[in-house]
Amino acid sequence: MNSKPEIMPADSSIEPLLEVRNLHMQFPIRRGAFRRTVGFIKAVNDVSFHIRHGETLSLVGESGCGKTTTGRCIVRVYEPTSGQILYKAEEQGRIDLAELDNRDLRPFRREIRMIFQDPFSSLNPRLSILQIVGESLRVNRVASGSELEERVASLLKRVGLRPEYIRRYPHAFSGGERQRIGIARALALNPRLIVADEAVSALDVSVQAQILNLLQDLQEELNLTYLFIAHDLSVVEHISHRVAVMYVGKIVELATTEDLFTNPLHPYTEALLSAVPKPDPRLRNKGVRIRLEGEVADPSNPPSGCYFHPRCPYVQDRCRQEEPAVREIKKDRWVACHFAEELDLRGFEAIGSTPSV
Ligand SMILES: Nc1ncnc2c1ncn2[C@@H]1O[C@H](COP(=O)(O)OP(=O)(O)OP(=O)(O)O)[C@@H](O)[C@H]1O
Ligand SMILES: [Mg+2]
Repeated sequence: MNSKPEIMPADSSIEPLLEVRNLHMQFPIRRGAFRRTVGFIKAVNDVSFHIRHGETLSLVGESGCGKTTTGRCIVRVYEPTSGQILYKAEEQGRIDLAELDNRDLRPFRREIRMIFQDPFSSLNPRLSILQIVGESLRVNRVASGSELEERVASLLKRVGLRPEYIRRYPHAFSGGERQRIGIARALALNPRLIVADEAVSALDVSVQAQILNLLQDLQEELNLTYLFIAHDLSVVEHISHRVAVMYVGKIVELATTEDLFTNPLHPYTEALLSAVPKPDPRLRNKGVRIRLEGEVADPSNPPSGCYFHPRCPYVQDRCRQEEPAVREIKKDRWVACHFAEELDLRGFEAIGSTPSV
């Protein structure tokens, strides 16, 4: 796998390409013959973060914590309930994508693209690779005929596929190759920001590494910015500059990858780190895996106080009553835990080398 990304993650002089402020996305729960709204699922609940030009920010957390919903709000598949999605457009300056209607969103849909999890269902089996990768070029009248073919062939080369494959159909490709096709499709209109939703989760570990390398190479070559969504931390370590950990619709910790892995400040991050497989076989069975008690909270009926308190090994009375705010503990280091300064949590290495609790 490639070494760590090169841009300095803490270099705050690099301007954000995207800034999400107080994003909320609620889905109504409807019941009965009249489909009355009886409650709301707070899928994204006051989420704020920014991503700098050329940076990879990863969003991690258990299933259902709101990662995909956050991504879909940014690419504006969803209209957020409230909040701002400030995007630094090339010419117009900062624009709030949350406010725009479909027509005004059109130019930005070319610049912000999504890559999906399942390379099997995200490609239409009845379309050739030329049609799949070339669709956005054709629809946007960027190219047609032989020029379109040339553009698609060159995109295929760029993602490591042979241009001769252009007339084949998705079924002829392996999972990894299909994900490369999905990436080529996302690159067709020269995007600036890519939201990769579990882009490697369905792939074998060795293929995962190849796709992660490809994404990193493309980032350097094309100065791309990524929001990289994954449910476990092991995948994001090598590709992210910074990592945001989500729990039940909220960001509970956000830090540079190194800080987060070596010195987590939120008990939930510590638990996620303890589940990361150890690459060194001597440590593999020695780590202390923190088993979280209880279920993930229900986003339509979250617990009082800190949403994580029913599962937190360090819970105190205050956690049951008072919801912790997300605080910037030091530059670029955010955490939502009342006791972040007092807890002495174990990072990835420490967990790996500690023989018992
Ligand atoms: N279209 C929808 N309508 C109603 N509820 C939804 C919708 N999409 C998501 N949800 C709910 O919102 C919450 C967040 O879902 P989301 O898909 O964003 O989570 P996720 O973190 O991406 O999970 P996973 O790791 O399983 O992909 C969940 O409780 C989910 O059931
Ligand atoms: Mg998801």
